[in-house]
Amino acid sequence: HRDLIGIGQMERHEILFLLDEAEQWVALNREPTKHIDLLSGLTIINAFFENSTRTLLSFEIAGKRLGADVVNMHAAQSSVKKGETLIDTAITLNAMHADAIVIRHASSGATQLIADKVDCPVLNAGDGQHEHPTQALLDALALRHAFRDRGEQAEDFTGLVVVICGDILHSRVARSNLLCLQALGATVRLCAPPALMPTGIEAMGAEVFHDFDAALRGADVAMMLRLQTERMSGQFIPSAREYHHLYGLTKKRLAHAKPDTLVMHPGPMNRGVEIDSEVADLIDRSIITRQVEMGVAIRMAALDVLTRRARGVEGWGGTA
Ligand code: CP
Repeated sequence: HRDLIGIGQMERHEILFLLDEAEQWVALNREPTKHIDLLSGLTIINAFFENSTRTLLSFEIAGKRLGADVVNMHAAQSSVKKGETLIDTAITLNAMHADAIVIRHASSGATQLIADKVDCPVLNAGDGQHEHPTQALLDALALRHAFRDRGEQAEDFTGLVVVICGDILHSRVARSNLLCLQALGATVRLCAPPALMPTGIEAMGAEVFHDFDAALRGADVAMMLRLQTERMSGQFIPSAREYHHLYGLTKKRLAHAKPDTLVMHPGPMNRGVEIDSEVADLIDRSIITRQVEMGVAIRMAALDVLTRRARGVEGWGGTA
């Protein structure tokens, strides 16, 4: 592929290839000096039309650690505010000869729209309710490292039961993770109030739950998601207190799972709503900060691999 739009367009071997490529960057990022000149001379534009802390910063850090020139376009300060269309913005970015464009946008499909208009690789940093592929890849890498640290088999997730609980309806993270975890062999249980569960999601192979305690039984991983109130219109929105009562991950509720069940959250977290602080901060069980660490490595791998063609390097995204 030239672009990284979604896990849905990737084969299992391509997912594993990116995870394997990221390992060298995990190691580099743990060194005192974290810089190489691999992408020296290349220009990467991060065009974010929606708020972000983790994804924007980690793409910026990833590009800079690889030696590229990185420019961030914040929609709030751009000519989008003066009525410029997404397509005209894409044509403008293309005319600046970027070597890769990273896009976050509130509309599903916006990243593909831009990819169709530009000459360089486009990386999806989250498009509406559609996909957030680098999040799913970093989550898989965080799981791989957590299992490896325990001395367990970590290259494949066959037999693993992962519960994703929260606002599944609006979640691009849930969608990308469902596709990625299943491709790696895991069983995925999706849990949400009925109003926040997409109809027909069973067709994608997910097990659907509305009772969180039942979903947690025997689970190896509990991935918690926040309520995306900014995307809700017309749905019943439970109060934070009601939601916490039924779907919040408390220490008591986590006891329904296994004694070593791992806890994940893509962030941003709403402590006391979908997850209690004493669970989010559990040593050896919560891998939330490790997810953030792996985010930089995965984005370095994605930027390296997708710019290989431009650099004349063999491999996926290269000349082969
Ligand atoms: N997980 C994630 O995408 O976080 P940000 O919105 O802060 O980038």
